[in-house]
Amino acid sequence: RPLNVAIVGATGAVGIELMGCLERRGFPVASLRLLASPRSAGKTLPFRGQDLVVEPLGPNSFDGIDVALFSAGATISRQYAPVAVAAGCVVVDNSSAFRMDEDVPLVVPEVNGALLADQPKVVANPNCVAAIAVMALQPLHAHNKVTRVIGATYQSASGAGAQAMAELEASTAAYLKGEAYAPQVLPHPYAFNLFSHNAGVDAETGYNGEELKAMAEIRKIMSAPDMRLSFTCVRVPVLRAHSMSLVVEFENPVTPGEAEAWLADAPGVRLVNDHAANHYPMPNEASGGDDVLVGRIRADLSDPTGRTLSLFLSGDQLLKGAALNAVQIAEALPR
Ligand code: A2P
Repeated sequence: RPLNVAIVGATGAVGIELMGCLERRGFPVASLRLLASPRSAGKTLPFRGQDLVVEPLGPNSFDGIDVALFSAGATISRQYAPVAVAAGCVVVDNSSAFRMDEDVPLVVPEVNGALLADQPKVVANPNCVAAIAVMALQPLHAHNKVTRVIGATYQSASGAGAQAMAELEASTAAYLKGEAYAPQVLPHPYAFNLFSHNAGVDAETGYNGEELKAMAEIRKIMSAPDMRLSFTCVRVPVLRAHSMSLVVEFENPVTPGEAEAWLADAPGVRLVNDHAANHYPMPNEASGGDDVLVGRIRADLSDPTGRTLSLFLSGDQLLKGAALNAVQIAEALPR
């Protein structure tokens, strides 16, 4: 039967994409309730040719709702996910609030969608770096165990929300006009610059919060608690697709040709690996698309044992890194 769906954070960068994914994928929506802060109450957003009115999130927001898609930050999720569950809703949560809870599945359907058969009340949607990385790592790991990954990311503005995207545009325009621009959303100048990811730094390890999330979540999604990972997460002046370099060490020797064949068969992955044309994954080609682009597959010359490959990925942070994955989870929920 069609479902009554709510989106918490409907006016945000991910919220808008959630509506788009529901519509584009023909999700069986009986009704859609758009929820945001009181600031947005009364605004309208288009869905399937109709203008829907945004309602302020409150204690009765989930009455009569079957599935609630949360994307308004961890504080709102901690406060309202229990309210939604008490109202009989299944929650798909895009925030970090419950991702590492032992009894909450952290799901990328192509990797561990089988966990949804247990009918969880809350399902966590992964951090965008983790979601995009596992799309390439899992098909490799299934053939030849991945023992270690060194990652470096090139992360877009969209991961920090709609206001950060607007800041990238406004600060770039100001820069080109030679005008001063004081950053309001992000901690550093963004136009023609890049900086360590703005999630706070862990005093003990020196890793930033994004790096720690990505590493822990990749292990959890892939059920690989002993996988060794080290990430460096960087914000770059790109609007909405994340890119990353992954240096992947395997248990057994591996060739680029083998990896390419394994990835060619992987759902949700598209090879962009044209050495002759020097054409590899780029954020502008990943933006707006469902697939994670994978290329630059090459043997790591620093490993004489032939067990290490380097790859480069681009994936739309707002789609596979957030809204698309959440809607895929909702589609796969047992009904
Ligand atoms: P609003 O637009 O009314 O502020 P983004 O990640 O793009 O910044 O979006 C965050 C989303 O979370 C927006 O839809 C925002 O709504 C919503 N949000 C922020 N604070 C609250 C709140 N206190 N209650 C409900 N929704 C909120």
